[in-house]
Amino acid sequence: MREFSQLGWLFIIATNVTNAQLQSNSRVVEVDRKCNVLPEPFSREIGEPFYKTQAFYNIIGRQPKLSVVAERNYSFAHEAGIYIPKTKEIMFTSNRLGNLSGTDQYTEIYKMNVRTYKVTKVTPSIDIPLANGGTFYKGKAIVVSQGRGDIGAAIYSIDPVTYETSVLLNNYFGLKFNSLNDIAVSHLDGSFWFTDPSYAYEQEFRSRPQLGEFVYRWDPNTGDVRLAADGFVKPNGIQFSPNEKIAYISDTGFTTGRGEIDVKRPHTIYAFDVLRGTDGLVSLTNRRVFAMSDVGIPDGIKLDVKGNVYVGSGDGVNVYSPQGYLLGKINTIQCANLVFVQDDLYILAENKIFHTKLSIQGVAFD
Ligand SMILES: *[C@@H]1O[C@H](CO)[C@@H](O)[C@H](O)[C@H]1NC(C)=O
Ligand SMILES: *[C@@H]1O[C@H](CO)[C@@H](O)[C@H](O)[C@H]1NC(C)=O
Repeated sequence: MREFSQLGWLFIIATNVTNAQLQSNSRVVEVDRKCNVLPEPFSREIGEPFYKTQAFYNIIGRQPKLSVVAERNYSFAHEAGIYIPKTKEIMFTSNRLGNLSGTDQYTEIYKMNVRTYKVTKVTPSIDIPLANGGTFYKGKAIVVSQGRGDIGAAIYSIDPVTYETSVLLNNYFGLKFNSLNDIAVSHLDGSFWFTDPSYAYEQEFRSRPQLGEFVYRWDPNTGDVRLAADGFVKPNGIQFSPNEKIAYISDTGFTTGRGEIDVKRPHTIYAFDVLRGTDGLVSLTNRRVFAMSDVGIPDGIKLDVKGNVYVGSGDGVNVYSPQGYLLGKINTIQCANLVFVQDDLYILAENKIFHTKLSIQGVAFD
């Protein structure tokens, strides 16, 4: 238990300050060593930092700085976080915008240059209804959509310069996906792994589901689409470990599409072993609990080269060791997803994008 009683090392940031102030206000906060037994009566506000360990210094460095590099007055920076090496830009998607109680709602896609922090709107050559998560693969931004009305969810490929867009996959043997949320591409075999929670139906912009709360694998080389994992309430973030021997999938069933919280439901990241057969078949096995967010839901997942796991959660980025110990938090209050550009970490925090330089590199996608 000793490890749990050690300190917490976190960023904490003041809210409602300008960019310049934020930079100087970001600091590492030490949380009381003796937190195993707290004197009654005690309480903790949601979002208030807690936790822990020296290992976090190896990640955030001794003099970490957290700054806001882009800001708007709406949730423009929510999901994806796709680094495009050629143009030195990050592509990301907004949260749902517009009238949130019908099929008029929409999301927008943006790019931010990581040198100038200039943000520009991306206009795909064909409509991508309610774009959400994404990744980078072979020069293209791969973006999943949540569909709209009777238009099912699908996987799209966008040329990051010309915005030429095509649909890669929009059905499972003729059945429509619900609302694809996130995607990871295996760099070992080029297969696409993606989550399909039914959030869009609960959020009133998609028709009744034809499929369950599933995770799929699609092999573009053979066209094979198969169920990769089930047993989720709302499968959400998905990512591989650097050697692709482990897959991480978060379940955000804790929050319903209507925004209610059900504490009996998971806000948990699960780990699976990735089995590769000599016949080329790949499957997930040995499902186990990896970690649970203590604030909000674990949304997007990214990893560094040492296999530490970064999860966008209700209080910012939670960083876990490869064994699932919480190392510390980068406390941006909100974070749906994040993206590494080598050792630069960009945090998509709804109306802000934060940047911090780490002492470790993220897993690169190319
Ligand atoms: C948000 O910012 C835009 C552009 O700066 C401005 O036109 C708009 O009025 C602002 N909206 C709100 C709700 O503050
Ligand atoms: C939002 O959409 C719903 C459902 O289509 C509609 O009933 C409602 O009037 C709309 N609200 C606004 C403010 O347009």
